[in-house]
Amino acid sequence: MVTIDKTISWKNLEKHQHETATVTLAEMFESDPSRSTKYTISACGLHLDFSKNFLYDKTLNLLFELAKAAHLPDQISALFAGKRVNISENKPALHTALRDSTKSELLVDGVDIKPLIEGSLTRIEIFSEKIRKGVILGPTGKKIKTIINIGIGGSEIGPKMVNCALRSHKNNSPNIKFLSNVDIDSLLGELDLVDIESTVFIVSSKSFETIETMEIAKFIQKWGKNEFSRVGIDQNKLPHCFYAITSNTKRASQLNIPTKNIFEIWDWVGGRYSVWSSMGLSIALSLGYKKFRDFLEGAYVMDKHFISEDWRKNIPIIMSLITVWNRNFKKFSSQAILPYSDMLSFLPAYLQQLTMESNGKSVNRAGHQINYETAPIMWGDRGTNFQHAFSQHLHQSSTITPCDFIIAANPNKLNDTELEDDARKIHNTMLANCFAQSKALMEGRNLNSTKSQSDKKMFAPNQLKHIITQHVFPGNRPSNTIIMDKITPRTLGSLIALYEHKTFCEGIIWNINSFDQWGVEFGKSLAKDIANNLSKSSSATDPSLLTDSLTENVKKLIE
Ligand code: F6P
Repeated sequence: MVTIDKTISWKNLEKHQHETATVTLAEMFESDPSRSTKYTISACGLHLDFSKNFLYDKTLNLLFELAKAAHLPDQISALFAGKRVNISENKPALHTALRDSTKSELLVDGVDIKPLIEGSLTRIEIFSEKIRKGVILGPTGKKIKTIINIGIGGSEIGPKMVNCALRSHKNNSPNIKFLSNVDIDSLLGELDLVDIESTVFIVSSKSFETIETMEIAKFIQKWGKNEFSRVGIDQNKLPHCFYAITSNTKRASQLNIPTKNIFEIWDWVGGRYSVWSSMGLSIALSLGYKKFRDFLEGAYVMDKHFISEDWRKNIPIIMSLITVWNRNFKKFSSQAILPYSDMLSFLPAYLQQLTMESNGKSVNRAGHQINYETAPIMWGDRGTNFQHAFSQHLHQSSTITPCDFIIAANPNKLNDTELEDDARKIHNTMLANCFAQSKALMEGRNLNSTKSQSDKKMFAPNQLKHIITQHVFPGNRPSNTIIMDKITPRTLGSLIALYEHKTFCEGIIWNINSFDQWGVEFGKSLAKDIANNLSKSSSATDPSLLTDSLTENVKKLIE
């Protein structure tokens, strides 16, 4: 089989890159003033301006040819049809089905999954409304005020990111907290704040085998038992403070979680793609079920856009092809996610798992070593804060990092203040900073224009020689800007689904299975051996651990 980097399409793109390598972004704008308009597309309340990239219509056409050479259209159909696209685990990847409320049949192993999904949503609705309305109470009859989600990876970061992103849409909500790490100081600090009479714990784990989640859950169950004794509550009521979200209901029962408190997720949904399932229970609990459905609906309309829109106006397709162009032909090694919003603070971390756990691989779907670049390093932070952290690197380092800027045209709470004009001015400051960054990255500032700054007494004449060049900005650094109408459940759902599909398309072009994650297993298995050795008072007995001086050294420090 011809690998993608040996296809004519790939060779044509290499030739195109060679032919256009010296043209700067500024020159592209000079030669085509309509560039911004031409390369801005909108869908689902999102507006993508991809004009600040090293591309022309010809580039896009060649990238479309590459996508077709990778059989992307067929693969998209296979994904939505529930084919076993996760080939190493022989499973479908049907996160799209979770937000498709149409009655169309969708079979997995001969079973129509749509009624299962609908049933799960009904359970989420009933449970979240009963908690929010004080029908389900704590063990002494108190209304539930705090919900603690115990989970990690896709069993934490998705719900956590959404809860943070939509916090201005909450009303009369219980407080949602997330525990994920085997950090006993952090855990005990959180438990110090817990009122056991008004708190429920949700153990979120698809496998119900993840060591961090299981250890935290077991510790909290013991802690809960002591709390019940301290407060004088009947121990038989303790299990009713615990819920589970899992595909391993047997294991959840073994943790003494009542069957009626177990919310099932299915094997045909990957952990990092599971926020749309019962794994999103905390979203319904904090926002209310209606807004959780709006979140799903936002993803659904992006799905429809993705499968039906012409590729020239197709946001996931365009963004995935830009990443392939930047990664495999412009040779940029990372990508920055820069949301200008405190609400989207967890978006970079969420997208790190989504993209790097999906496509951080170097063996293709046929089991052969890949000889071309795959997923870029995904990193980032919120704006404007990153401007006071790593924007220096973005502008003047020797490494070019393509950036995704994300910002809302309108804040959510403008009407919540009588200082509306002042509030709008603050939002305009954020907008101005966001747009200034992509402009500065693209245009840069050359020596002459920097010198003209010197006329404004930026530099003393004798400083000019060795200082002024420090103030030159190379520019010619690419970026995308996504403007959201507003950050709402719907537009957030569309944004997340956009990146899911972008990740999928990149994986198909790189001939990667984006839905398994064997790379996370090895460290976990070594950790078990080392944990056992840590608990041994004697020196390392297992030869494989003899090289593990860290364990031996730390033993000397353990108090
Ligand atoms: O990081 C590996 C991983 O399996 C992720 O894919 C998953 O989201 C996370 O661990 C948690 O897994 P589980 O939900 O089974 O506890």
